[in-house]
Amino acid sequence: MKLIRTENYAEMSLEAGKFIVDKLRSNPSLTLGLATGSTPKGVYEYLIQDHEENETTYKQVKSVNLDEYIGLPAEDPNSYHYFMSQNLFNHLDISENHTHIPNGAASDLEQECLRYEKLIKELGGVDLQILGIGQNGHIGFNEPGTPFTSRTHIVTLDQNTREANSRFFNSLDEVPTHAITMGTASILESKEILLLVSGESKAEALFKFINGEISEEFPASVLKNHQNVTVIADRDALKYI
Ligand code: PGA
Repeated sequence: MKLIRTENYAEMSLEAGKFIVDKLRSNPSLTLGLATGSTPKGVYEYLIQDHEENETTYKQVKSVNLDEYIGLPAEDPNSYHYFMSQNLFNHLDISENHTHIPNGAASDLEQECLRYEKLIKELGGVDLQILGIGQNGHIGFNEPGTPFTSRTHIVTLDQNTREANSRFFNSLDEVPTHAITMGTASILESKEILLLVSGESKAEALFKFINGEISEEFPASVLKNHQNVTVIADRDALKYI
């Protein structure tokens, strides 16, 4: 595992953005695994700016997102479909049918999980997966206790996760209770992983990730079994390291 230390969120985003663009330049038909939330927003801003200024193209790029809330339609401003359109896809030349996000509004959710897992296989797997980490160590929405063997599945969100994400909603009650997420095993099959960690609220999680045991009680710890992980973290997140 490689750890890149940065001063702050802006520098973390810059380093991560350059890292991704480098990969895109050497493989323009990359399959990117994408994440939502506060952490990757700055990276997406970098990718958009780079696309505008340096004409990096996404015409052959495919993307698969980690997760989606259950019960929010794609046009809901809190859905991850909406987040991805607003914060990235609408500003790149990526074709809509190359972007994939689990459908949290599917009528048969079990079937949707199977479809998504099959889709990732058909795409030849993820070349580069961008990940954040939850305060409780989750990756995607794989909450503590999720088996390392899990594939795309339906999860009940931890109270801690719902509270952390309630900042995007009018109230905690509005935060969905369930989500679809790529499983831990699905994530681990990515050829390369870029884990981004920013801010003091993640300092404890980053400390546990680096120093703790590999355990299903701390899902991110499984990444230590992966051969090609780069962590880019900022000073606040590195407080205990
Ligand atoms: P955040 O979420 O980027 O909004 O902090 C990360 C996560 O929960 O995985």
